[in-house]
Amino acid sequence: MTDETQYESTFGASMLEHDDAPPQNQSANPTMGELIGQRFSRRGLLKGALAVSAISATVGATALATAEEAKAQAKGSAFSFKEVEAGVDADHHVAEGYQADVLLRWGDPLFPEAPAFDPTRQTPESQAKQFGYNNDFVGYLPVPGAADPSAHGVLFVNHEYTNPHLMFPGVVEIKDGKPVMKNATPERFAVEAMAHGATVAEIRRTDGKWALVKDSKYNRRITAATEMQLSGPVAGSDRVKTNADASGRKVFGTLNNCSGAMTPWGTFVSGEENFHGYFSGKLPDGHREEANYKRLAIPSAPYAWGRFEERFDLAKEPNEANRFGWVIEVDPFDPNSVPKKRTALGRFKHEGADSIVAKDGRVVVYLGDDERFDYVYKFVTAGRFDPNNRAANMDLLDTGTLSVAKFAADGTVEWLPLVFGQGPLTAANGFASQADVLIEARRAGDLLGATKMDRPEDITPNGVNGRVYVMLTNNTNRKEDQVDAANPRAKNAFGHIIEIIEDGGDFTATKGKWEVLLKCGDPSVAAVGASFSTETSKNGWFGMPDNAVVDSAGRLWVSTDGNGPQETGRTDGLWAVDTEGEARRTSKLFYRVPHGAELCGPCFTPDDTTAFVAVQHPGDDGPDWPAFGRRSYYEDLSTRWPDFKPDMPTRPSVVAITKRGGGKIGV
Ligand code: FEO
Ligand code: CA
Ligand code: CA
Ligand code: CA
Repeated sequence: MTDETQYESTFGASMLEHDDAPPQNQSANPTMGELIGQRFSRRGLLKGALAVSAISATVGATALATAEEAKAQAKGSAFSFKEVEAGVDADHHVAEGYQADVLLRWGDPLFPEAPAFDPTRQTPESQAKQFGYNNDFVGYLPVPGAADPSAHGVLFVNHEYTNPHLMFPGVVEIKDGKPVMKNATPERFAVEAMAHGATVAEIRRTDGKWALVKDSKYNRRITAATEMQLSGPVAGSDRVKTNADASGRKVFGTLNNCSGAMTPWGTFVSGEENFHGYFSGKLPDGHREEANYKRLAIPSAPYAWGRFEERFDLAKEPNEANRFGWVIEVDPFDPNSVPKKRTALGRFKHEGADSIVAKDGRVVVYLGDDERFDYVYKFVTAGRFDPNNRAANMDLLDTGTLSVAKFAADGTVEWLPLVFGQGPLTAANGFASQADVLIEARRAGDLLGATKMDRPEDITPNGVNGRVYVMLTNNTNRKEDQVDAANPRAKNAFGHIIEIIEDGGDFTATKGKWEVLLKCGDPSVAAVGASFSTETSKNGWFGMPDNAVVDSAGRLWVSTDGNGPQETGRTDGLWAVDTEGEARRTSKLFYRVPHGAELCGPCFTPDDTTAFVAVQHPGDDGPDWPAFGRRSYYEDLSTRWPDFKPDMPTRPSVVAITKRGGGKIGV
């Protein structure tokens, strides 16, 4: 087998999305996953019978409001806007009366000396000074001393992964009439490594338009090579020591950052998600990390960076993979600060890390492990947040209690602590310290009997109504005999959202109540079993909830990953979801992305007048969209959004959405 076929002859293999990976939770409680092979498309798995029947069924059945009806405000709805028509084309679309301006594109220079983007001549040096690829999480914090905190701030945007076939000319060649991806060269690898990570960018709104402040002292690129510090209980553990770092405290780079959040003290956190696919090679026989790595699917072929950097080769540096899979924290107001990997929050395939200050001042961080049959977690700090002393809060995430959720059929949820020495988390089960528990958080969750969920993504506490919203994106591997109350559908192609009310309205509580807020998918197809309100139009329903945000009025906005022509007859987008009163479970489409993209990072300015969203991997796939009908790649793209120039590839971009004439979004 040549390198080429081994690593990258399939397009899906480079994308590292979860639908392509075998389920990793093989623990005995309470189900066994089904192993499946690598897929050619990250969306391939969804093209099952259920998805097909969903889109071929007649829409506009009696259960759904007509589009016209839904353009009027649903009874009791907290949202007031005319919704967008759901569909698929090469452009993005926002609700009437709103403006969607592209703010930052892959390759945009972030510094005065940064070279202009030239897709035919990207170098590691130029990429390191330009906006990275595949923007996912977007967060906004006002610049200290800003005259208008909602018109002048810093954005933190992470760059999850790279799609070389969309990024570079000459990556795809035609063999026997079929497009095949060429193996990475060292040069291409170096550019891709610099396109990973995150961006801090100062932005300002003038006359209603947002723009980058290019000469800002805050602007910063974080890449796969940036020095970071391992912080918290795992720092210094033997299991994170390497040939290059005998201290077990100094790591270079962050990989596959998916969602994230702002902290109450004004920093950004972001989750390292599918880090397994960067590692290659084989652990030395009998190495102690064998079971640990197997539970996380390490190594996986897609990127196989061990070909280019020894530390990613398990045979040469067996502990390096223990230094990834953490939540990172970045202080955007000190561009020289060393980002921290906060190990107290556990190691798994982290999605977001949304936090809220509880009544007693402790800070609660909700965490999802985005894998089929993996878990929902929360972390409660030991210390209390001090609103008057930022410096005193900066290491709150190093000390506290991580817990995993067990959802019971009676509608209660219990948070089970991952504490060394308690319950099964002892030497008898191979744990010698809290560091061991955190490095193998998944196995600790297995032993505690946590509930196997349908891919937990963002988990968003709502300070206005006191509830917590859990996005569960999908899990088509769940079989009939694996259905439980909190994951009520077998072959869950469209995902669902769970609402939690912690006991006493206290986010630190060890118990709470829960119910399914929304089963997603087309409500006009009975077999789908969706539970949108009857006020929801044929445009308003969605599948695959991924990111969520609550605006200052406590209204829930959900962005999606995995809708498409084949799955739901619509692209991904941003949906407004009512949670209160008679409009509860009504959803409306506010913004939709171009073909092939997912929508990430919804984020509002403090006054709700701007929504920032991240359009990720536009132009991916291709055979899925009959109007295009073939594999999309650099030389033959299904969309050239946002520039629409023949010599410019499609570019993942952050978009700023404002209301024409000003005002709050969706009001
Ligand atoms: Fe990268 Fe969990 O989506
Ligand atoms: Ca993503
Ligand atoms: Ca995500
Ligand atoms: Ca996702």
